Amino acid sequence: MINTQNIEIEKTKHSKLSQTDFTNLEFGAVYSDHMFVMDYKDKQWGGLRIVPFQNISMSPATSVLHYGQTIFEGLKAYRADNGDILLFRPLDHHKRLNKSAKRLCMPELDESAYLEGITELIKLDRAWIPNQPGCSLYLRPFMYASDEFIGVKPSSTYKFIVFTSPVAGYYKGTVKVIIETEYVRAAEGGTGFTKSGGNYAASLLPAKLAAEKGYQQIMWTDSKEHKYFEESGTMNLMFIIGDTLVTPPLSTSILAGITRDSILTLAKDWGVKVEERRVSVDEVVKAYENGTLKDAFGTGTAATITQISTINYKGTDLVLPGEETRELSNKLNKALNDIKLGKAEDKFGWIYRI
Ligand code: COI
Repeated sequence: MINTQNIEIEKTKHSKLSQTDFTNLEFGAVYSDHMFVMDYKDKQWGGLRIVPFQNISMSPATSVLHYGQTIFEGLKAYRADNGDILLFRPLDHHKRLNKSAKRLCMPELDESAYLEGITELIKLDRAWIPNQPGCSLYLRPFMYASDEFIGVKPSSTYKFIVFTSPVAGYYKGTVKVIIETEYVRAAEGGTGFTKSGGNYAASLLPAKLAAEKGYQQIMWTDSKEHKYFEESGTMNLMFIIGDTLVTPPLSTSILAGITRDSILTLAKDWGVKVEERRVSVDEVVKAYENGTLKDAFGTGTAATITQISTINYKGTDLVLPGEETRELSNKLNKALNDIKLGKAEDKFGWIYRI
């Protein structure tokens, strides 16, 4: 257990706040003034500090640059009407980070150091939390292997850093997606359930090819048969077929989305029929053809709920019903936002108040 009372704080002398246009935020383009850092060496975490946001200098031989031993998280902070800062499910993000760490052979993070680090960071940069509708302060915790060594082995030193970025939604409006039947995002037993850099690197080429055809995202299918849906690049996938909310079950190849869990929890609480089971491409195409596919959407921290307007399968576009007809996903989106902003009861204990 780390003594977190002593986080050293070095404040910036050159705040970028006044030069930041909060009315035109994009996802991930500007960073607030400070970052939280700690180091792992001699089998323990230490050196907890908050410093001005700055570049990292490293040897070209640093392990992470060669073998990708790096993991990250993404979580959001909101400002409530009464001025309180509300973090959404930070402890669940911590648990997931540690699951990723274990799989990538990296050290786990002490909960108190993580929580105190981000709390102090957000307190210091609280003026960076946007008020604009749909906007929030996105926190990006990440850890990387910092040994200067190019043999393939787990690093013995690591850095953990959290920086923050005022953001709007990841997607602007609905997305057109394409069902991927050639490339694979992750296979069973691999690292698909982790938030590790390599998963995203592997998705870039197929995503680029999809973008060239006019689709913003890919719907990944299973690695064995390309028959069952897995997830979408930055989101978990959900369908409303008839009156049932259907989503692929978690596995070693699917990220356990915290927004996914929140949406399923809300829907179940409202008495909606929810099924976590394998969903085949065939089933969705048939449901589209017989008119029972009412909705398809992605869920994710960055994406929140993003409705899918069009699904392309083997060259044919399935055009889904208009956004206004998607009663359940619209309602779930609003309910989740109200909880995040402290406007609705936090029945499930998801809010961490600073
Ligand atoms: C998130 O939803 O926080 C993500 O990690 C998506 C990110 C890769 C942009």
